[in-house]
Order: sequence, then structure tokens, then C-alpha cells
Amino acid sequence: MEPRASVKNLIPYVPGKPIEELERELGIGDVAKMASNENPIGPSPLAKKALLEHMARVNLYPDGSCFELRRKLSEKLGVPEDTIIIGNGSNEVIEIVARTFLEPGDEAIYGRHAFIVYPIVTQSLGCSHVVSRMPGLTHDLEDMLSLVTDKTKIVYMANPNNPTGTIVRRDEFEWFLERVPENVIILVDEAYFEYVDDPEYPDTLRYHSVRESLVTVRTFSKIYGLAGLRVGYGVASSDAVSYMNRVREPFNVNSAAQIAACAALDDENHVAESKKINCEGKKYFRSRLDELGIRYTESHANFFLIDIEKDPMPVYDALLRDGVITRPVGGYGLKTHLRVSIGLAQENERFIESLRGIIKR
Ligand SMILES: Cc1ncc(COP(=O)(O)O)c(C=O)c1O
Repeated sequence: MEPRASVKNLIPYVPGKPIEELERELGIGDVAKMASNENPIGPSPLAKKALLEHMARVNLYPDGSCFELRRKLSEKLGVPEDTIIIGNGSNEVIEIVARTFLEPGDEAIYGRHAFIVYPIVTQSLGCSHVVSRMPGLTHDLEDMLSLVTDKTKIVYMANPNNPTGTIVRRDEFEWFLERVPENVIILVDEAYFEYVDDPEYPDTLRYHSVRESLVTVRTFSKIYGLAGLRVGYGVASSDAVSYMNRVREPFNVNSAAQIAACAALDDENHVAESKKINCEGKKYFRSRLDELGIRYTESHANFFLIDIEKDPMPVYDALLRDGVITRPVGGYGLKTHLRVSIGLAQENERFIESLRGIIKR
């Protein structure tokens, strides 16, 4: 069967290696997965309890409108319920936005080292993706603006960006917002929002009142520890959300995900604890990487991008043999880097000790 031309040339998304695969391939138990920026402490106990109680009701279809989750998010975020759309992971929200608004021939702009789902989605719809440079591994908003044409429909901005961990600050964002024509959608992907501490980091929900064509996307996969259930959300104008609801599959978010996400929102302690462990992990990483003389980008999220300064695959493979899964990022145009998620203290130590041994060989 012949796929559409736009699909034939797609470069597939390569996920982090699953623990089970490494165990099968190398016969190693006790693997440290530091490849997909998941929460190493797991989900909130409240979410676990809610899931267990929910199990006997999975014979029923979920609430297709995600009413309760949208109600809770509306209360927490201070935005109207009809401006929220829930997705099967934030990945699906990104896809729904593209499927709702992109026409074949439209252009979408994204950063050269930005999250790889943006070009995949854009290209699969027969649209052109226009690549903006990222000097210093950060989005260059002046360059992005210079690439806007009459055909531009969406600008993607991951803030913090994956896999670089860098952020766009408030003054740059406001500068950009004022200059990008209103007919261009600015999609800000804030998958790591809850981890950021920088006082200049912009909360884009504050700008929806001044710009209609703005979409904020967040997830329960990262700090909330629910990656396996697949649930994320987008905030946009009520009109935009009503169009997106026409495109969305009727029961796109399963009931377990909805229940767990609602419970997770009630557990501020879990979020605080997750953030604390991440901050401690970051401090540890910085000091040890400095000691080892390994360069890294200043991360605002729950991972580090480290520069091996040569082909990183032998280091990646040697780490695998030590039972540590990291993520090569060649597909992001970063040919000498590895991305490593911040784990529990013992996982971080294991990664550093393994790396120390490998670079000394
Ligand atoms: C920047 C960014 N956006 C979106 C996602 C998708 O997350 P999910 O679909 O699990 O919500 C990820 C996942 O790693 C990410 O790094």
C-alpha cells in the first residue's frame, strides 16, 4: 500500500528505550530509565488510590467532554472551562491544533532543536515546516519573526524546550507577541511548566486576554507522574476550542486518565516533593558534571542536555550496558549530545559513576 507522499518521507519519532527492552536484550535487571523525562517518584498517592477505586468501572465509556477535569483545571488556572481542551497526552492536543488549523500548503515554524513532534505533525498534514535557528540552543524569536510569511499558520515554541531545557523569558515573549500577526497561531508548549523557577519565565495563560491566536499546552505526564495514562491539556479561545472539539475523537481521553488527573490536581504535596527532588538532582548533576568537565545546558526542566563533544553513541551504549538508559538526540540536530532525565538520588549517582568510568576508559 502506498502512503501519502507527506507520510512516506516522515522520519519516525524514536522514543526512549523501554526498561523491558533493555532487560530482554542485555539480561540486566534493575535498570535506571533516565530517557523520557518521567517523574522518578511516580504518581501521587491520591491518583493511585483513585485509580484503584475506579477499576471496577472501566466497562463504561469515559466522559467524552472531560467535564470534571476541565472544571478542576478551570478553577486552578483561572480560565473558563470552555477554553480548555483535554488530550490523550499533550501530544494529542498539539496534533488536534494542527489538524484543526493547518491547510495543505500552510507553513509552520519551529526551532531547529525543538521538540520533534512539531515537524512530524506538520509534515504529515502536507504542510511545510520552516526551521528557525537556535543559537545557544535557545529559541531565537527575532529569527522566528523574520521567517513569518503570508503562509505562516502556526509558530511552535516549547518553553522550556525539550531537549535543550532552555527557556524564553517574559520580555522576549512579549516582544514577540506584539509583532507576530494576529492570524498566526502561537502555540506555547509548557510540558515542563511546573519545574521552572526562573522569575522571568512567562506564564502564557496571562496573555490569552490580549491575544486570541494563542494556545498554551501542558501535561500530566511530567511533574504529575501520569505519563503512562496519557493526559494533557490545551488552553485557547473558546472559539478555537469549539473547532478543535469537532476534530477530536469523541472519547479521546480514557476514564482512568481523567480520574487520576483530577486526583493529582488535589495533591500539591506531591508536586512540591517532585520539584524538590528535581532541584536537588539538578544541583547534584551540575556539581558532578562540572567536576567531570562535561558541558551541559542550563536546564529549567527535569533533564540535562550534556555535550560529549564527539559521537555520543559509544557512551550511550556503554551506559546501557551499565543499566542506565539515556536518550541520544541526533534526530534533533544535536549530534554530540545525550539527554539525561533527572532521577532519584541513587539513579543520578549511578549515572554519574557510570559516566565517570566510561570517560576514563
Ligand atoms: C516539550 C514536550 N511537549 C510535549 C510532550 C508530550 O508529552 P505528553 O504527550 O506525554 O503530554 C513532551 C514529551 O516529552 C515534551 O517534551
